[in-house]
Amino acid sequence: MKRDITKALVTEHKLILRMLAVLEKNAEATVSGTFADYGFFLTGVDFIRNYADRYHHAKEEDVLFEALVQNGMPRENSPVAAMLMEHDLGRAHVKAMEEAALAALAGETRRERDIADNALAYVALLRDHIAKEDTILYPLAERLIPEEARDGIIAGYEAAEARTAAGFAAKYQELVAACEREVLLKAA
Ligand SMILES: [Fe+2]
Ligand SMILES: [Fe+2]
Repeated sequence: MKRDITKALVTEHKLILRMLAVLEKNAEATVSGTFADYGFFLTGVDFIRNYADRYHHAKEEDVLFEALVQNGMPRENSPVAAMLMEHDLGRAHVKAMEEAALAALAGETRRERDIADNALAYVALLRDHIAKEDTILYPLAERLIPEEARDGIIAGYEAAEARTAAGFAAKYQELVAACEREVLLKAA
């Protein structure tokens, strides 16, 4: 039995999916005019940039995907190339959502559509992306990558974790839980 190299990433996906659900609810409420807390979207940007991107996507891009390429997957025109492209596309939506939220907070009117369109596009993109990783790419990595390459991968994940500040993962778990509580309070 080879040592697992994707379970931690699947667990991170679960937290990311919870934040996507909050983002979706608040984006829909922004369009319907029942949500005007544009600061929330900056909180979403903070979570996505730091947890989903710098932490989770960095583990994929620098460690797992790199190992897939070292073990026979082509770098171009391959599932890894497609995943990298989607990470970049996500970053573009997040940047546009941030710009629109900052403008709305600065008093610009009629930026709700830009906020919501980019938030919802990001949600759709990332849900689909995560589903592909969970059901196709990660199982493939588990089959393809030999046991002797796994020490390096696990060390790579540990290095990524060591680069974060103390309490990093707990802080973002708490942030998502707090956002979920606010959604529930609004619905009550
Ligand atoms: Fe990814
Ligand atoms: Fe992922």
